[in-house]
Amino acid sequence: MKLPTRVTICEVGTRDGFQIEPEFIPTDQKVEVVDLLSGAGLPRIEVTSFVHPKVVPALRDAEEVMARITRRPGTRYAALVPNEKGAVRAVDAGVDAIHTVVSASESHNLANVNMTVAESIAKLRAVQQVAERAKVHVGWGISTAFGCPFEGDVPVARLESVVGRFVDMGARAIGLGDTTGMANPRQVGEVLGHLMSRFPGIEWTLHTHDTRAMAIPNILAAMECGVTHFDSSIGGLGGCPFAPGASGNVCSEDLVHCLHAMGVETGIDLGRLLAVSRRVQEIVGRALPGQLVKAGTAARRYPLPDGVAARLPARA
Ligand code: COA
Ligand code: ZN
Repeated sequence: MKLPTRVTICEVGTRDGFQIEPEFIPTDQKVEVVDLLSGAGLPRIEVTSFVHPKVVPALRDAEEVMARITRRPGTRYAALVPNEKGAVRAVDAGVDAIHTVVSASESHNLANVNMTVAESIAKLRAVQQVAERAKVHVGWGISTAFGCPFEGDVPVARLESVVGRFVDMGARAIGLGDTTGMANPRQVGEVLGHLMSRFPGIEWTLHTHDTRAMAIPNILAAMECGVTHFDSSIGGLGGCPFAPGASGNVCSEDLVHCLHAMGVETGIDLGRLLAVSRRVQEIVGRALPGQLVKAGTAARRYPLPDGVAARLPARA
């Protein structure tokens, strides 16, 4: 396999995950989780979103969370933003980076942000200006990039046209979101291979959901293309409230374990990440989809069953 030596992970559980939790997660606990994540060495955290508080009430405390987290040097703190108002709020709250949101498919964009794709892109110009003035990084995100829960297939030409608009606007970092886990590894390889040769020099991020158990295979396919930036969620939290059938992102600790096992560095302390995942399960009050919390790492060993030790052949 052609694998990079190092990848950068952006933790999105406190945004993509907490946004759909049925019970409001108290601000104190959101702050605690963000600080535990930075403590585990996460280089990037999408802390929250600055969207309409009535549309996503779970994240209505975005300003307060940003104000109360402890800023660790070495962690870049981002927030999701759909429009100028969100950008102004995010910049005022002190984010290091803005992650924009628009879908490749019209139906999901209307359901999610109440705008056509063209209207969204027009609003993103204002977002970009706000970010530029504040010298804040912009990551340009495209949801439903590999399939839409309403429309089905998203033609590559459609995706390419949105990417082209972003590149014309000066985008340097673009994220492709598989919002409801419709992508497969072959498709990911083909789409990324095409876009990467068509738009060289872009920092690509793959944002996966594990809805159909293809998230890690899709990440492997993207790494084979040379992608080195991935979003993931602690415990496998995650899901879009406006995409029926959406479920959790690829689980951060499962992904980090897989990468480390293959010798791909992340700079993340896996033991501490597992502890964060256990704490998040306590906070949300249920078991999360992540496998590693249940299984332990591949280094885990069990005592031999009775009688087996005595019968083991001597090693040569
Ligand atoms: N934060 C807070 N308030 C906002 C806002 C923002 N980012 N954007 C708009 N508003 C307010 C406006 O000020 C206006 O308030 P007023 O009625 O008091 O004047 C009101 O919302 C309506 O503004 P409008 O631009 O018409 O927004 P809308 O009602 O069409 O909603 C979005 C558009 C994008 C704000 C809304 O659909 C949204 O927040 N979507 C987020 C979806 C999401 O987070 N999905 C999950 C992540 S993928
Ligand atoms: Zn998502």
